[in-house]
Amino acid sequence: MIIGIPKEIKNNENRIGMIPAGVNALVREGHKVMVQKDGGLGSGIADQEYVKAGAEIVGKAADVWERAEMIIKVKEPLPEEFEFITPEHTLFTYFHFAADRRLTEAMIKSGAVCVTYETIERDDGSLPLLTPMSEVAGRMAIQEGAKYLEKPMMGRGILLAGVPGVEPAEVLVLGGGVVGTSAAKMAAGLGAKVYILDINLDRLRYLNDIMPPNVVTLYSNAYTIQEKAKSCDLLVGAVLSTGAKAPVLVPESLIKQMKPGSVIVDVAVDQGGCVETCRPTTHAQPTFIVHDVVHYCVANMPGAVGRTSTYALSNATMPYAVELANKGHRRAALDNKEIARGINVIGGKVTHEGVAAAFNLEYTSIFELLA
Ligand SMILES: NC(=O)c1ccc[n+]([C@@H]2O[C@H](COP(=O)([O-])OP(=O)(O)OC[C@H]3O[C@@H](n4cnc5c(N)ncnc54)[C@H](O)[C@@H]3O)[C@@H](O)[C@H]2O)c1
Repeated sequence: MIIGIPKEIKNNENRIGMIPAGVNALVREGHKVMVQKDGGLGSGIADQEYVKAGAEIVGKAADVWERAEMIIKVKEPLPEEFEFITPEHTLFTYFHFAADRRLTEAMIKSGAVCVTYETIERDDGSLPLLTPMSEVAGRMAIQEGAKYLEKPMMGRGILLAGVPGVEPAEVLVLGGGVVGTSAAKMAAGLGAKVYILDINLDRLRYLNDIMPPNVVTLYSNAYTIQEKAKSCDLLVGAVLSTGAKAPVLVPESLIKQMKPGSVIVDVAVDQGGCVETCRPTTHAQPTFIVHDVVHYCVANMPGAVGRTSTYALSNATMPYAVELANKGHRRAALDNKEIARGINVIGGKVTHEGVAAAFNLEYTSIFELLA
């Protein structure tokens, strides 16, 4: 199969769809891989590394799209890319269709096979191609939170770790999933006093077992959130109700009672945010202040650490990319239900119930379609 890896064109997107090791794995299986010139630069990967791995470097995006049968990307295609997409293409990337009607309609019209990272799903419900980015965002939440707690960044002027004789900062993590666990681990490692809240008691039991003693697990409810939000220095929003908008757990009235200069990092902003005063920001202007509380609400946090994120994502996507390339989308989906669940749009039909429901479109079962 001929595989194309175009340069990402979304604002501040430094990732690329595949690392040289992944390219090499595909080449070893007998596939031809084209990488767009300078596509890896944002992740610190030079063209030469791709050449060494067996790729051909191609100058223009249009040529990558025209010659490739499968395209591996990071972000959804943007309108500038729509014209390149044909029914012969298999696209393997994040799409987040339910949040974007224009994209959904364009992909239906294109006739392409759209295999989305975000709905590749194991039998236990876990989402292996979302997890690595949540691990990155959770860790970053503490790094960014620590930075914005500094006085020149408008924070309280508090060091997360404290020093001998001075108390460490208090960190409140709402949600104990992948983001929340990564954040709590980082904050605890730095020496902060950490509270992690979840509504899933089994999850709290697990966290209680594995976390160091400076992490306290608490059942999440309005009362506890209110108590802990008032005393914390850094609040991390990390909740998710699968497929739905994030619940608002921190109302504006509570923000008013938080300490001046405290910091909120609402990682759940991509699902609407769990803090009432949250609105999406960008890496160019990541923060704003409401009621003296610093809000960091960047919707694509992993984009800022392109190199780490590219490697983390590519490690997870690689086996699926090889299976898709070796077998073609039909055989791969029939053999591997995880891949079948990833196909949201194919040949003009919508094969994901959530996407069909979001825009009132006809739903077709992928298994009936491929049978
Ligand atoms: N901003 C970014 O760049 C970025 C990057 C990665 C992930 N995210 C987002 O971060 C959020 C969390 O992702 P995740 O991978 O950790 O999800 P996850 O499913 O692993 O964890 C979510 C946790 O929230 C808990 N939860 C649900 N309702 C709750 C409530 N009322 N109180 C306390 N806990 C509650 C769940 O029980 C679960 O343990 C998602 O919205 C995801 O899209 C954002």
